[in-house]
Amino acid sequence: MTACIAIAGAGHAAGQLIASLRQGGFDGRIVLAGEEPWLPYQRPPLSKKFLSGELALDRLLLRHQAWYADHRVDLHLETRVTGIDRAARRIFLDGGKTVDYSSLVLATGSRVRRLALPGAELDGIHYLRTIDDVHAIQHDFKPGARLAVVGGGYIGLEVAAVAVTHGLEVTVLEAAPRVMSRVVSEPVSSFYEDEHRKAGVTLRLDCGVRGFSGTGRIESVMLADGSSLPADLAVVGVGVAPVCELAEDAGLACDDGIVVDENCITSDPDILAIGDCTRHPNPLLGRRLRLESVHNAQEQGKTAAAWLCGKPRPYADIPWFWSDQYDLKLQIVGLSGPEYEAVVRGDPATRSFAVFYLDGDRLVAVDAINSAREFMLSKKLIAAGARLDTARLADPGSDFKALAAAALEAAAG
Ligand code: NAI
Repeated sequence: MTACIAIAGAGHAAGQLIASLRQGGFDGRIVLAGEEPWLPYQRPPLSKKFLSGELALDRLLLRHQAWYADHRVDLHLETRVTGIDRAARRIFLDGGKTVDYSSLVLATGSRVRRLALPGAELDGIHYLRTIDDVHAIQHDFKPGARLAVVGGGYIGLEVAAVAVTHGLEVTVLEAAPRVMSRVVSEPVSSFYEDEHRKAGVTLRLDCGVRGFSGTGRIESVMLADGSSLPADLAVVGVGVAPVCELAEDAGLACDDGIVVDENCITSDPDILAIGDCTRHPNPLLGRRLRLESVHNAQEQGKTAAAWLCGKPRPYADIPWFWSDQYDLKLQIVGLSGPEYEAVVRGDPATRSFAVFYLDGDRLVAVDAINSAREFMLSKKLIAAGARLDTARLADPGSDFKALAAAALEAAAG
C-alpha cells in the first residue's frame, strides 16, 4: 500500500505538519479531515485584527486552496473524524467514509470551556475560538452596545481592547483578584488593569458570575454579590481544554492532554499527536507540560513531520507567547511562577518595561511589554541557561545588551 498519513484536525499544527511533510520529501498520500469549513488558518488574529475588521479572511489562511491541490492533499473540510480502529489502522469520518492510514496524526487542538450557568444558552452570549465565532460576535458589535466580557485572560482583554476602541461600553468580569493571573505576575497585571481603565473599560475583579438573564436574548449578567449588570452581549473567555476524546476512545494514554514523547509519538507507535492537545516532555524545562500556543503547534508540526520523513528532530524549545492590546505588545518567553524572584526593569509609566523571573541567578522567564530587544535576547539567555547579576539587571542605568552578551559568553564558556 502507498504510505498514507491521515491527519485529524485542520488547525495551525496540521497546516505546519503538511508543509513540513512535503518539504521533507514525503511523497505518499496525505488526508486532512477538519470539522470547521475553513482551510487551516491562524487563530491569533481572531481576537485582534480580524475581530476589528482590519484583517481580511483570506489573510488568515495559512495557505490557499490551490496550494493543497498542488501538494496533493486530500481535503475533507466540515468533516469530523469519529473513530479510530487501531488494529486495522483505519479512521472513520462522519458521512460514513473510512481512510486506511500508515500513520495517523491527531491535531485536534483545544476547545473553549463553556459556562454551565443559568441562562448560558441565551442569544448574544459568545465564545471566541473560530472564524465563525468572530462573525457571530461582529454581528452584535455595535458602537454603544453594552458588552460584558467574562474572564480577564488573553481572549477577554484582547476583545475588551478592540471593543472599547470601537465605541462599545465594556465591562470585564474576572473571577481572580487580578487579570491574566494564569500567565503573568502582579506588576504586569496591574499595568494592564491601569491601561484598560484609562481606555474606558470597567474592570470588576474578584467577581463571580452566577448566570445570565433575558427573554430569548441576554439582557443582564447576574453576579455573585447579588447585583446584576445590564448587557446587550457577552463574550466569554474562561480558558480552554484539550480535545482528547478520539485518543481516549482509542485507548491511547491521556493525562489532561494526549501523552506523547519528544518525537510526538503517542502510546501507539503508528499514531502521533501535535499542538494544543498534547502533553509532551520538554527537556529544557525538565518536565512534561501542555501548551496553548501557536509556537508549540508549529514546532510539534515540524517534529512530527521530521519523524515521519525518517529524519527525527526531537522537540526541545522554550515556550513563548504574545498578546496585542491597544498599542501594547506583550511578549512572554519561558514559564513564570510565584516561586521565582521577579525583577522589574524599566518604568511601567513609560509603557515599555520587562519583568525578569529568576531561579537564584538563572533566568527562567520574561514578560516584555513593548520591549522587543529584551524579549529577543531573553529567548537566547533562557535557552542557554544563562545566569544574570540581579542587581545589575534591576539597575535601569545598566546596558541590557552588554549584560546579556556577558551572560551568554559565560554560559557558553
Ligand atoms: P485564559 O486562561 O488566558 O484566561 C481565562 C481567564 O478567565 C482567567 O483570568 C480566569 O481567572 C478567568 N475565569 C475563569 N473562570 C471564570 C469565571 N467563571 N468567571 C470569570 N472569570 C473566569 O483563557 P482565554 O482568555 O479564554 O484564552 C484561551 C486560550 O486562547 C489561551 O490559552 C490561548 O491558547 C488562546 N489565546 C491566546 C492568545 C495569545 O497568545 N495572545 C490570545 C487569545 C487566545
